[in-house]
Amino acid sequence: AARTPLMAGNWKMNLNHVEAVHLLQKLSWTLQDKKHDFERVEVAVLPPFTDIRSVQTLVDGDRMKIKYGAQDVSVHDAGAYTGEISAAMLSKLGCTYVLAGHSERRQYHHETDAVVNAKAAKVLEAGLIPIVCVGEGLEIRQADGHVEHCVNQIDGALVGLKADDVRKLVIAYEPVWAIGTGEVATPEDAQEVIAGIRGRLEETFSPSVADSVRILYGGSVKMASVGGIMAQPDVDGCLVGGASLQVDEFAGICRYLD
Ligand code: G3H
Repeated sequence: AARTPLMAGNWKMNLNHVEAVHLLQKLSWTLQDKKHDFERVEVAVLPPFTDIRSVQTLVDGDRMKIKYGAQDVSVHDAGAYTGEISAAMLSKLGCTYVLAGHSERRQYHHETDAVVNAKAAKVLEAGLIPIVCVGEGLEIRQADGHVEHCVNQIDGALVGLKADDVRKLVIAYEPVWAIGTGEVATPEDAQEVIAGIRGRLEETFSPSVADSVRILYGGSVKMASVGGIMAQPDVDGCLVGGASLQVDEFAGICRYLD
């Protein structure tokens, strides 16, 4: 399968727009220095909403090949939804990707699979690519229910989507117990769940859809751990939190082939 690996930096609720521009400029210079081939390993950043316009200006002005996107989106199109941001607004800002159902949204903002499904559908309608996040908590992992749990989350998140839309999707598997904890799942742990998800895509849609969808691993990924994770046959990249705020770490993750 010719799936281009994707390294996506989720900045979470960090960096004002000035800091965002500094970080992105340094990242771009660092990758340029190394003659990074963006066709070979795609790189994206997911800033807070308030930074996206500045990121767009810098990316366009410098003709950067780094892509960018948002961490969340509204399920509504427009209107009286105070505080919400629509997929069309994100499209206008040149976003490529939008996270749907990050575990922190599920945990702190009560996002259900149905909400994640609605968000993914809105993102696709706007011509953008959802990064649909799934993952199990520690109790489920200890009870050996992790593959089933994640596959069920995928079923719920993708219900009603057309196969040709699903083909474009990115999925991120992030075991909740490994996020921001320094606890990385082993490469085999990541492979097991990600292969399970790909198997389900094959059953629900088709082998060719399953073969097209990129599935990332996320949870305390660092330069030191990325190689082992990327060596797994079904892992197509990483969703990086903490380490994406450090230029050298994130550039090192993007350069895992070095
Ligand atoms: O979206 C990113 C993940 O939540 C991983 O975060 O790399 O800080 O563990 P982390």
